[in-house]
Amino acid sequence: MDNGEIALSEKEFSRIRARVYKIAGISLSDAKRTLVVSRLSKILRRLGLKSFDSYVDYLEASGTEADNQEFVNALTTNLTRFYREDHHFEHLVTHIRGVVARKPRLNARGQPRLRIWSAGCSTGQEPYTIGLCLTDAIPELKRWDFKILATDIDSSVVAKAAAGVYPANELSGLSAQRTALFERGADGTVRIPAPVKSLMTFKVLNLMAPLPFKGPFDAIFCRNVAIYFDKPTQGQMFDKLGKVLAPDGFLYIGHSENLQAVSNGFRLVGKTIYQLKANSSAKDAA
Ligand SMILES: C[S@@+](CC[C@H](N)C(=O)[O-])C[C@H]1O[C@@H](n2cnc3c(N)ncnc32)[C@H](O)[C@@H]1O
Repeated sequence: MDNGEIALSEKEFSRIRARVYKIAGISLSDAKRTLVVSRLSKILRRLGLKSFDSYVDYLEASGTEADNQEFVNALTTNLTRFYREDHHFEHLVTHIRGVVARKPRLNARGQPRLRIWSAGCSTGQEPYTIGLCLTDAIPELKRWDFKILATDIDSSVVAKAAAGVYPANELSGLSAQRTALFERGADGTVRIPAPVKSLMTFKVLNLMAPLPFKGPFDAIFCRNVAIYFDKPTQGQMFDKLGKVLAPDGFLYIGHSENLQAVSNGFRLVGKTIYQLKANSSAKDAA
């Protein structure tokens, strides 16, 4: 092709689809053909490969972990922003105020414990919004054992998230009160303040794999992730999240996602906000 892109046959597209589905659960629609060509062509050129078939052959026969990670990273969609779907953060603050007022869970040292998970955190705007909202609204959380786990399958977005540095235009449209929660870098960037950054643990984690922890989490955000999965995959993933959600915890999903269509374990308690049904709680979790 004269624009430097390599031609993608129907058979090659099928092989790429099958591979990203098997690894990441991502179902690529026909509409993603152009995206596949533009994102993977760069990798093929770097590897000196002439066709998508030879790329998939290479991944199957001798691709390293880094090669496979690069393949998955190239095919994820990472769109996100600070305070996206604002009503979830308002609900979260009210919920956590309730947790603080009631008898909280305690850690082994007898300190009140709060755990929140951003599953599919992309470049970090979602977990940082959680941290900024809660530390601003509930100052006594400073004395809590409070941690936010932020995970994504895409290692490149996890690295960006962990840096906590963003171009200033990421804050456009936010109120002056919200903008004031960020620090300004001398280079014109905006930065996450150290007390909020210190709440975070960032990790690469594939939601298709068994979870390496038991929770329980007081809240799980898994928003705009399931839209890339087919219904059976969505159901399996949400059931897995249910196993690590606290019995009184909340699960927040994306505006176009519908949990009830794919899982029986949850009840709808607000706009795209769910709790476990009484008999499907994660009470065995440590
Ligand atoms: C559109 S972003 C959503 C970001 C954020 N949750 C939000 O709503 O703004 C979807 C994220 O899901 C991640 N993702 C896709 N498949 C995944 C999987 N199998 N395991 C973990 N993360 C996955 C992608 O890498 C991407 O960063």
